[in-house]
Amino acid sequence: MSNRPAFYITTPIYYVNDVPHIGHAYTTLACDVLARFKRLDGYDVQFLTGTDEHGQKIERSAEKAGIAPLEFCDRVSARFGELAEAMNFSQDQFIRTTEERHKASVQHLWKVLEDKGFIYEDSYAGWYSVRDEAFYSESELTSGEGGEKLAPTGAPVEWVEEPSYFFRLSSLQDKLLELYDSQQDFVLPRSRLNEVRSFVAGGLEDLSISRTSFSWGVPVPGADGHVMYVWIDALANYLTAVGYPDVQSDSYQKFWPANVHMIGKDILRFHAVYWPAFLLAADLPLPQRVFAHGWWTNEGQKISKSLGNVIDPFELIDSYGLDAVRFYLLREVPFGNDGDFSRQSFVQRCNADLSNGIGNLSQRTLSMIFKNCDGALPPCGSLSVEDKELLNTIDHLVDEVRAHMNKQAFHKAFEAIWKQAAAADSYISVQEPWKLKKTDPERMNTVLYVLADVIRQLAILMQPIMPASSSKVLDQLKVTRRGFDQLGEAGRLVAGTAIDKPVGVFPRLELPSEDDT
Ligand code: MSP
Repeated sequence: MSNRPAFYITTPIYYVNDVPHIGHAYTTLACDVLARFKRLDGYDVQFLTGTDEHGQKIERSAEKAGIAPLEFCDRVSARFGELAEAMNFSQDQFIRTTEERHKASVQHLWKVLEDKGFIYEDSYAGWYSVRDEAFYSESELTSGEGGEKLAPTGAPVEWVEEPSYFFRLSSLQDKLLELYDSQQDFVLPRSRLNEVRSFVAGGLEDLSISRTSFSWGVPVPGADGHVMYVWIDALANYLTAVGYPDVQSDSYQKFWPANVHMIGKDILRFHAVYWPAFLLAADLPLPQRVFAHGWWTNEGQKISKSLGNVIDPFELIDSYGLDAVRFYLLREVPFGNDGDFSRQSFVQRCNADLSNGIGNLSQRTLSMIFKNCDGALPPCGSLSVEDKELLNTIDHLVDEVRAHMNKQAFHKAFEAIWKQAAAADSYISVQEPWKLKKTDPERMNTVLYVLADVIRQLAILMQPIMPASSSKVLDQLKVTRRGFDQLGEAGRLVAGTAIDKPVGVFPRLELPSEDDT
């Protein structure tokens, strides 16, 4: 294993009761962008995604589909694999909780918790939501339109009474509060940390961690008829993937604890309360961060299968092209906030920032070079104050972008990059290189060289969000060294390098006609 610094990032593992939609694509995309960023920045990255395949919800979905649970899981899990391909995700591993290595890992974790006295046998009588795979207390429930009881998420609940093993969550209240107070960026955004903190400060009850009324789950070691509660099974995937229980393995040593668990706000409690509690009880190191992002609505409406307004990522990619989809999702909405998807905002955002913005900047510059400099990158003469100023800010842009990425503030990172693209646009308008051909060709060469080098650096920085398009721009400039160590002076363009006739990389998008919407 290399001695580069490690970076371990995970997505939630997705339930296979549902085909992938834009919400799933969103979480994994955020991880993909961060993983790509860290690789370019010299890290040894482990980027994990996968599917969550046990539990009552999956068992019932398989029953409804009329097939065996594992066959059902194989089918839907494959669809998530296809999504990863279609979205150009760069995961290092795709884990499935039905894999043998995972069952062994979570059973080991169970035994450790048991040996340390954190598990006891009792019986559970209370409310359970199969849709959320969560237990709720009476006081959390609300009434639906017909008077039926609902979970705070709006999901139906059912009364459950069965023998169960419990985890002594209540005994960890103080340790958890200490964690939130001492490591204030353990949960981001900050408002989410406050939410978690006040939930824990309100008092914790022990958690039921096994079920006996169905069988689709990991068997509890030494307890016939008990399968593990699907969340203890699911959360442990983050350990399994890096080699647990072999804590001496190279990958565990290198990658645990995880740097970022990326999740949606809906599963915050599981990741910021239960997960650190299991790890604290097992004496395992805690992850550095749980980032809970917001939810997408579709043209103002909650996305749901029953409303029939699920946004299909495959269809979006077909309509607008992959990199536009990747860009829009992470640029349009401040990461952490909820966002509303609309075709109009999609088309507007992509046309403004991609086709008119960076696309136009690079197409104009490359065309001027191709036409006026004999199809080769021009020599750079002595630099004016404006040239130096522009190059200097671009040369150091990565520091600002890195600071935003380290807080998962994607929108700010992209804003910073696009601000520099806009600065390059103003530079063109002031320098008017098209007028220099006759009056001062040497100066024209320098201006075009500076612009080309700015575009090189912007394209290097855009690789994490738009890998294919950035790569096309870099190909046109004949840039082969694309890591962040090539930014600034280190990788400056070589004058005299022949370039091909430039072709536009970011097509203009059209709003769908009324009939399509
Ligand atoms: N299986 C659990 C997670 C276990 S992790 C140890 C689960 N799976 S899920 O299939 O329901 O996926 C949940 C994740 O999908 C959310 O946390 C969120 O990241 C993403 N999204 C699902 N719908 C979404 C939106 N409408 N908008 C944004 N993201 C949402 O929970």
